[in-house]
Amino acid sequence: MTTLSALYIDAGDVVLRKARDDDRGSIIEHVADPDVRAHLGGPQPRDAVARDLDEAGVASATDAPGSYVIADKSTDAFLGTVSLTRRGVHHPGHLGPGEELELAYTLDRAAWGRGLAYQAAAAVLRAAAAELPDEPVIVVTQSANTRSLNLARRLGFVPAMTFEEYGEEQTLAVARLHGFLPSRAT
Ligand SMILES: CC(C)(COP(=O)(O)OP(=O)(O)OC[C@H]1O[C@@H](n2cnc3c(N)ncnc32)[C@H](O)[C@@H]1OP(=O)(O)O)[C@@H](O)C(=O)NCCC(=O)NCCS
Repeated sequence: MTTLSALYIDAGDVVLRKARDDDRGSIIEHVADPDVRAHLGGPQPRDAVARDLDEAGVASATDAPGSYVIADKSTDAFLGTVSLTRRGVHHPGHLGPGEELELAYTLDRAAWGRGLAYQAAAAVLRAAAAELPDEPVIVVTQSANTRSLNLARRLGFVPAMTFEEYGEEQTLAVARLHGFLPSRAT
């Protein structure tokens, strides 16, 4: 099952690029941040993250096709992550039997409230819509994750179902990929 092949995407005030060695410290702080991880299973221990990154290489953080670092347009510094990847069939919460395209996003706490995740997500979806056949795209987020649900709604995703995973209620929201083609964007 395919997803997006681009290695770099211009997304307005941010760029989407693959992870580099000099992102190491930022990535560790990002996944150790209690705010960023509040609805993602909690902060991860810095030592364990550092060990994993050093073993696998920092580039492994965005190895998967469709997976990117969100970086500041002017400084190229790490600000977060965005991905459009295939949701494994072992997860609960699907529209059908296959591996749906799933959008996910995380931003450093200091970058919230500036529309940057919106720009990053919209750019990924536009690029994917130009490259891939039309199909549903999903966002799965804890129902308590108001900021994430607000972003999904602003992008045009519509809540379709709720289910339980990791002991929390999750909301699955859906949009059509080709709804993000420039000619049809609103
Ligand atoms: C989910 C998350 C990425 C949303 O970040 P965000 O900055 O709120 O999202 P957006 O990029 O859509 O920005 C919207 C905010 O920027 C403001 N904003 C400022 N300028 C803006 C602009 N030019 N365009 C749009 N919004 C703008 C909006 O008013 C809004 O602020 P508000 O929520 O205080 O009203 C962020 O909260 C996060 O990283 N959370 C932790 C990780 C997580 O749980 N991810 C979900 C997993 S799928």
